[in-house]
Formats: sequence, C-alpha cells, structure tokens
Amino acid sequence: MKGIVLAGGSGTRLHPATSVISKQILPVYNKPMIYYPLSVLMLSGIREIQIISTPQHIELFTSLLGDGSSLGITLDYAVQKEPKGIAEAFLVGSDHIGDDPCALILGDNIFHGPGLYALLRRSIARLDGCVLFGYPVKDPERYGVAEVDAEGRLTGLTEKPSAPRSGLAVTGLYFYDNEVVDIAKNIRPSPRGELEITDVNRVYLEQGRAHLVDLGRGFAWLDTGTHDSLLKASQYVQVLEERQGVWIAGLEEIAFRMGFIDADACHRLGLGLSHTDYGTYLMEIAGRAAP
Ligand code: DAU
Repeated sequence: MKGIVLAGGSGTRLHPATSVISKQILPVYNKPMIYYPLSVLMLSGIREIQIISTPQHIELFTSLLGDGSSLGITLDYAVQKEPKGIAEAFLVGSDHIGDDPCALILGDNIFHGPGLYALLRRSIARLDGCVLFGYPVKDPERYGVAEVDAEGRLTGLTEKPSAPRSGLAVTGLYFYDNEVVDIAKNIRPSPRGELEITDVNRVYLEQGRAHLVDLGRGFAWLDTGTHDSLLKASQYVQVLEERQGVWIAGLEEIAFRMGFIDADACHRLGLGLSHTDYGTYLMEIAGRAAP
C-alpha cells in the first residue's frame, strides 16, 4: 500500500502564524505537525509515502524530511498548485499510487490512542473498497459526518451539514483500493470548485464498499484548526510525554519498532540528536532488546 500526506491548503485561519510558513510545519509541542500523520502511515506499515504541499512550501518538507532513507522509508514530494480539494491528492499522486491501494492522511490530523497499530493493520488487511474512521464530536457540523445503522454499518455521508444527523465525524485518515484514482477523476467539483473527499467516499458507499471504523471515546483525534486547539494539542502531547516518559510520533522510534531500521541505525539517529532528550531516549531504546 502507498501513502500520501496532504499538507497543502492556504492556512489562512491561522494567520499570522502561518503567513509565511506551512501550517503542517508548525510545532505541536516538540515536533513539527506533519510528524503526527506521518507516524500514522508508518504505524500502518506503509513505507512508500508521498508528501503533497503547495509550490511555496514544498521545499520546507523536503529539507525537513529528505528522502526518508534514514527512517527506512521512501519519501517523495509533489506539488498541488492550488487548493482544489482533498480528493485532488489522488490526481496529483496518481503516478506514485500506480496500481496499489492507497492511504491518505491530512497533514494536520493527529491521532493517538491505545491499540492504534493493531486497528490500522486490521483495517488494511480487510480492505475492500474504502475504510473511513469515525470519531464522536460535539460539533459535527465542522466535519464530514457519517450516519450509521443500529449495527454500526455506514448508511450516509455528508460534508459539513448544517443539521447533522449524527455526532460522528469522519476523520482525515482514509484507506482505499486502487479504484480511488479513477473515482477521483470522475467526480465533479463542488460549488466551491473543490474535489471533495466526501464525494469520493459517497461513490464507495453507493457501491456498498465503504466501511466505517468507529475510533470511539478512548481515542484522541486532536483538532489543529484554531490557535486554541493547536495549543491544546501541544498540551496533550506534553502531558502524556512527560508523565509516561515516552514519545508520541517519534518517527525514529517508530522506524525502529516497525523493523524499518535496525538497532545500530536507531543508535546513530540518537547520536545525531544527542544534545536533546529525544536523542538520549533513542539511544536507550536502541540498547534494549528488539520490540
Ligand atoms: O479533518 C477531517 C475533515 O477534513 C473531514 O471531516 C472533512 O470531511 C474533510 O473535508 C476535511 O475538512 P476540513 O474542513 O478540515 O478541510 P480543509 O479544507 O480545512 O482541509 C484539510 C487539510 O487538507 C488542511 O490542512 C489543508 C489540506 N488541504 C485542503 C485542501 C482543500 C490541501 O492540502 N489541499 C486542498 O486542496
């Protein structure tokens, strides 16, 4: 399976913080925002990942993350000229996707919770059509909203409805089979001129091939859309990392635990960061027995 992190958009809601920098580069506590979605793809076992951003900002991501080889993954980069919709990622990324299934994650989505690794792997193993991830929120009108029947089966999808028929938001993580490229090519732009991801998902729903996994209340799906929510996301990460002495979305640690790099490589990455607590942490992990 290939992966795409969509990290473009105008970021205007966070001006002036994002006047000259990409939103997805802003720090969430102690690491750039894009580390969080990238970590989700890596935990899904995906090693070929494309990062899509704007013509102004793509260089930032290239300098930050390089070709991915130090993490045992392959990263490449593509440009979305204008923010013409989330589903345009499948047109921009069609060469990267090739004949494979594809996971898309929005570069500003942060997931954290118990059993995430197992849940992701299970969802990919059972992929038939598309898998969406639902999350209960108190303000569903801000999101794509999913309706489900008594058995939890997906029955409806609406983008930002003014009168939501459920409290289940569709998060910005999506798994698709290879048909997604053709489906995205054939949907019409919305009145806003965007290729809407919800329209792609609706095609799968009409085919009876859209499945929803409810992340449930034990999970954290954090918002980064406002200055306040961004600050709260940082505080969430700070509290957990300090209390438990672990790192959330430490890409080097994940690469090691997933077997993408060996203990020596992990140790070397730690050495390169030896002036930070994270570097020490990485060297400690590398010294431990394999996970
Ligand atoms: O976060 C989950 C929500 O993401 C879903 O519930 C909605 O169904 C989905 O439409 C989307 O809603 P948003 O209001 O968050 O979409 P927004 O336009 O803000 O774009 C989300 C991210 O994707 C944002 O970081 C910018 C990036 N983006 C967006 C568009 C439209 C791009 O890189 N290119 C684009 O063309």
